Amino acid sequence: MPPEYVIIHQQVAPHVAHISLNRPKELNALNLQLMGELRDALKALDADDNVRVIVVSGNEKAFAAGADIKEMANKTAIDMFITDQFSTWDAIKKIRKPIIAAVSGFALGGGCELSMLCDMIVASETARFGQPEIKIGVMPGAGGTQRLTRAVGKALAMEMVLTGRFITAQEAMKAGLINKVVPVELYLQEAIKLASEIALLSPLAVKMAKEAVLKSFDTTLEEGLHFERKNFYLLFAAEDQKEGMQAFMDKRAPVFKGR
Ligand code: HXC
Repeated sequence: MPPEYVIIHQQVAPHVAHISLNRPKELNALNLQLMGELRDALKALDADDNVRVIVVSGNEKAFAAGADIKEMANKTAIDMFITDQFSTWDAIKKIRKPIIAAVSGFALGGGCELSMLCDMIVASETARFGQPEIKIGVMPGAGGTQRLTRAVGKALAMEMVLTGRFITAQEAMKAGLINKVVPVELYLQEAIKLASEIALLSPLAVKMAKEAVLKSFDTTLEEGLHFERKNFYLLFAAEDQKEGMQAFMDKRAPVFKGR
């Protein structure tokens, strides 16, 4: 059965796939079905050799306005424990190819957390990022206290998490949460452009570099440097390393094959 709440667009540019969240009436509120479909789509694209970079977007009005409050409202702690919704998020964290979030409109609660689970964020000028869970009697549960704090620092993260204040795309840019702000009519195009630039590079080097950058969030400097060095050495086993360095010396563009 095709997914109901995500649309998969293959090859929107060479080696670039695009997944759009598709629950527009609910501002792409992330119910369990949508998150499951998103995980399945990402895993399929991660396993597809024709795809090197993945763009995830919502629509102009909303990237995602958070977890589905109506679905959660009557749950007990034991329901939440049994459902184990965060195993889906853990699976998305394991995707090895770069994921670029193309964000326009609301990126709130779980929506902001989903954008931060991606590797880079391209935003439209209309984007609003926030962790408003505090206003409905809870707190962030999918990385909002951790990834946001690492990205923007304690002062702004504390303010956003404790007051629920939304920040604009410009403020997010200044704080280091996102990579780029562009006019709304260009945000998806810009995200695909950034993805295309990465898709020209060695997919092996890209995956190993992503892995090493993410490692820096989980480890000491010493262990991180050690991990980085191992990946660096490992890349010398690839044809792409020979091709990349030979092309430099030949003064021509390299052609990377991912081997
Ligand atoms: C369920 C939602 C929703 C949500 C919007 N809708 N956000 N449904 N869960 N998170 C629904 C509304 O009920 C409404 O449907 C429709 O989408 C349009 O929303 P409106 O409120 O009418 O739009 P607007 O007035 O433009 O306000 C937009 C908004 C507001 C500011 C984004 O919708 C809002 O505050 N939403 C909730 C944001 C939030 O608190 N997110 C955090 C959720 S907790 P109906 O049919 O009623 O008209 C969370 C925890 C994460 O994310 C844990 C890890 C996953």
